[in-house]
Order: sequence, then C-alpha cells, then structure tokens
Amino acid sequence: MITKLNYEQYSAQAAELIPKNAFMTTSHNNKVNTMTIGWGSVGVIWRKPIFTALVRQSRFTKELVEQSGEFTVTLPLTEMKEALALCGTKSGRDMDKITVAKLTLLPGQAVATPVIAGPGLQLECKVIYKQTMLPENLASADNKACYAEGDYHTMYFGEIVAAYKTE
Ligand SMILES: Cc1cc2nc3c(=O)[nH]c(=O)nc-3n(C[C@H](O)[C@H](O)[C@H](O)COP(=O)(O)O)c2cc1C
Repeated sequence: MITKLNYEQYSAQAAELIPKNAFMTTSHNNKVNTMTIGWGSVGVIWRKPIFTALVRQSRFTKELVEQSGEFTVTLPLTEMKEALALCGTKSGRDMDKITVAKLTLLPGQAVATPVIAGPGLQLECKVIYKQTMLPENLASADNKACYAEGDYHTMYFGEIVAAYKTE
C-alpha cells in the first residue's frame, strides 16, 4: 500500500532516517542500480522541497544520474542491514546488485526510476542543480578527514516530486 505524504509529514522523519542509511537508486537505458548513502539532507531551496545527495566521482551511480537527471531515495523503516552493506561496498559496474541483494523494485510514481520495495519512506527526485565540490572551499580539517584520496563529491539537488510511504 502507498500512502502519499506532504513535506510536513515526511521531512522530519527523513532527516532522522538518513544517518541510518538509505538506498539511492538510479536508472538509465533499462539498467537499474542502487547504492547505499549515509549523507544527504531534506530541506527547502528555490521554494521547492529538495533532497541533496552527495555522490563521489568514482561511483557508477554518478554515471547513471548524470545520464538520467533523476534518482529515488528509499529510507527503510525495517532492518535491511545485509542489503545496505552489499549495496554500499559493491559497484553496479561489476554486478546486478538488485538481484544479488534480493531487492524488489516498484515503479516510480513520478519518475522513470524505480524505488526499493518494503516498508520505507520513498522520495522521488528530479535533479535541478548540481555542483562538484571545490576543495579550496572546504574547511581543511574536513578536507583531511573525508577526502584523503580526493574523490570529491558532486552534490545533486533533487526536487522531491513524489513522497510516500510503502508498507
Ligand atoms: C553506510 C554507507 C554510506 C555510504 N554513503 C555514501 C554517500 O553518501 N555517497 C557516496 O558517494 N558513497 C557512499 N557510500 C559508498 C557507496 O555506497 C559504495 O561505494 C557503492 O559501492 C557505490 O556503488 P556504485 O558504484 O554502484 O554506485 C556509502 C557506503 C556505506 C556502507
């Protein structure tokens, strides 16, 4: 069952769930991939509800989101530790993670990218702005702590065009 949510209904819960990790799903040319994310934010920018995802240059996810201009975020409301571990350590370049992690997809309501089935908070996003981090603009302590090997993030600001809970 799908329960549609407005910004007031999902924003606080999404912010609470992000540190518990989520799936960021992308698709292009019939290829669907998902990766685990632990960083991100929900807020209002440009008078719109926005999910900001941070994706390092090395991720296959980056290639797909660049092509499609959209992504979905599934914030699990049940324990999905094993799937999150697999999708956070293996690349979609090397395997079909959806099959290997035994994940089920549900079609997107407002975008062509699917969401991960199961009890969860689902956010469907269309990228309206992106920005690759400039190392010289980052506080040096955080630069050292998070980017010892470079591989800076691109921030994708996705307008949340559909938000709902799945059972
Ligand atoms: C708990 C956890 C959180 C993660 N958060 C992020 C993130 O926010 N951004 C990112 O680029 N990678 C993050 N990663 C790493 C990617 O999930 C991982 O490199 C993945 O294999 C990339 O898959 P892909 O190549 O199919 O895109 C995280 C990994 C874990 C385990």
